[in-house]
Amino acid sequence: MCNAVEERGQLLDDTGPIAESEKRAARTFKADHLFFVTNGTSTSNKIVWNSLVGAGDIVVVDRNCHSSVLHAIILTGAVPIFLTPTRNLAGIIGPIPRSEFTPESIQAKIDANPFITDKTKKPRMLALTQSTYDGIIYNAEEITQTLDGHVDALHFDEAWLPHASFHELYSGMHAISDERARPRDTMIYATQSTHKLLAGLSQASQVLVREAENTALDQTIFNESFLMHTSTSPQYSIIASCDVSAADRVSSEPTDWWFDVWAPIRPRVRASLPARSGSSRPPRSGTASSRSMTASPCSTPSK
Ligand SMILES: Cc1ncc(COP(=O)(O)O)c(C=O)c1O
Repeated sequence: MCNAVEERGQLLDDTGPIAESEKRAARTFKADHLFFVTNGTSTSNKIVWNSLVGAGDIVVVDRNCHSSVLHAIILTGAVPIFLTPTRNLAGIIGPIPRSEFTPESIQAKIDANPFITDKTKKPRMLALTQSTYDGIIYNAEEITQTLDGHVDALHFDEAWLPHASFHELYSGMHAISDERARPRDTMIYATQSTHKLLAGLSQASQVLVREAENTALDQTIFNESFLMHTSTSPQYSIIASCDVSAADRVSSEPTDWWFDVWAPIRPRVRASLPARSGSSRPPRSGTASSRSMTASPCSTPSK
């Protein structure tokens, strides 16, 4: 099936079963909004960037980012300053030091950048690879707290981390969680390849959004960016696999087949993890939804 069929729902105008499925997935992944994407996280990244960043905006970017983020810089005409990861003697790329994430360090880079004339301009976005190909992940909670109000948006490229919110091992180490305080001003975006570590078909991806207390998702602009990067013939089987990926996680347990296969935890590590309450993670009631034309994270969206 190539073109949109009314009864199956439409990804582009966000109707029918697809809209329902995105709402369920938003609850499962604890996001305020969740959008299925059919051309991989390469496209999810560009959707997020084009919805937020304009020419001349300052962006703070992981120097070890995926090529799609570099393409997003080119597309938007943003002025990047880079967070520089460490390297070992063999040249293997390690983590970005914690000191790089402070507002003072970012300001020093802005001050030193000859392409930035207005040194008081707030960075529009900070983009971080949250898990690198080698498995380096950052304390997203700490980064969010440190930079809340100092950048307009945080973009965690979680292409390799769609499973993280379903296991205590990653507690605090993934972008979106409804168990942490909402940021006051800074919006959080996560882009995830459901085709990499969940049950998605190739190219299955999703964008997750957590709003700040004082900042809501601009639905109109986001929708336009989504349309800009999405085929008018999105593949239904990919969309269905996004639905399956989310549904599969609803009943996830730290001891379930998925984690036992992909991330087996040694008993000693398991013993050190905080105790879980309850046997599964039921969806947060009544707070998550997908796209909305209003500022409310609970209302029904359109695209
Ligand atoms: C960090 C990161 N971001 C984005 C992507 C692109 O993801 P996709 O293959 O779903 O387009 C990749 C692909 O490997 C990646 O490693």
